[in-house]
Amino acid sequence: MSDGYGDRGNKDRSITNPHGRGDLVAHGEGDAGAATPALESAFLAGVNMTGGYGRGADILHDCTVSVEPGEIAVIVGPNGAGKSTAMKAIFGMLDLREGRVTLDGENITGLSPQARVSKGMGFVPQVRNIFAALTVEENLEMGAFIRRDDIRPTMEQIYDLFPILREKRRQPAGELSGGQRQQVAVGRALMTKPKVLMLDEPTAGVSPIVMDELFDRIIEVSRTGIPILMVEQNARQALEIADKGYVLVQGRNAFTGTGRDLLADAEVRKSFLGG
Ligand SMILES: Nc1ncnc2c1ncn2[C@@H]1O[C@H](COP(=O)(O)OP(=O)(O)OP(=O)(O)O)[C@@H](O)[C@H]1O
Ligand SMILES: [Mg+2]
Repeated sequence: MSDGYGDRGNKDRSITNPHGRGDLVAHGEGDAGAATPALESAFLAGVNMTGGYGRGADILHDCTVSVEPGEIAVIVGPNGAGKSTAMKAIFGMLDLREGRVTLDGENITGLSPQARVSKGMGFVPQVRNIFAALTVEENLEMGAFIRRDDIRPTMEQIYDLFPILREKRRQPAGELSGGQRQQVAVGRALMTKPKVLMLDEPTAGVSPIVMDELFDRIIEVSRTGIPILMVEQNARQALEIADKGYVLVQGRNAFTGTGRDLLADAEVRKSFLGG
């Protein structure tokens, strides 16, 4: 591959989903759920989600996204497409009018966000994802709020994953660079020892080099066996490391396929990847 990403991505097939479906699905009106493959094997799924904020208009329309064991699944799409809304719906921050959320075979549609954390969901929201006035280490401790066991080993793992955080552990997180703050946010979510990790734009506002580093760390987390569902505005680079990709448009599934197939699709390239 000419873009330098040829050796990237989750190549460890021992932990990657073995289904290997290569078919790109271009969704028509109202078929998002019907055309979405193999939800039975999904570890985490938002299925046929329809709903919006409060009494406002629906933002999501029959939207389905899922991640399977060993996978990195990536949601891309234009600004305002409903990517963050889909993540919030899966995390329980939105009342769905229709559809369901399942985690490890269990219907969790009615659970609060905190109950979902207890069930194993780790979520890094797009905004306000750290406590700026608290130190790096205090942020990590806050992340472990549901735990009663010894959190030191997990903290050490996070410092091994993001060595700069060990160095800056006594510093207020607000003083860190954008990329370092994103590491704090991901680290905070990992402190609960989640069974699945949801990241909303983990590389927002960072340089291309820092983006590459963050993606490498995300791949590293994925290789520990944690499935990852991620929204990314760096669509091309994210799809390079994605086992599965979703293009959302106006709250609907527009295209679904492997990262590779989406990158190769002429229409997806033209409309969403800048040619
Ligand atoms: N808290 C909210 N209350 C009401 N409407 C909201 C709220 N948050 C988002 N919306 C609306 O929902 C729609 C989808 O927004 P969302 O943030 O999910 O898009 P997105 O795909 O994540 O966009 P971006 O790429 O800019 O992050 C937009 O029309 C937005 O105005
Ligand atoms: Mg968003």
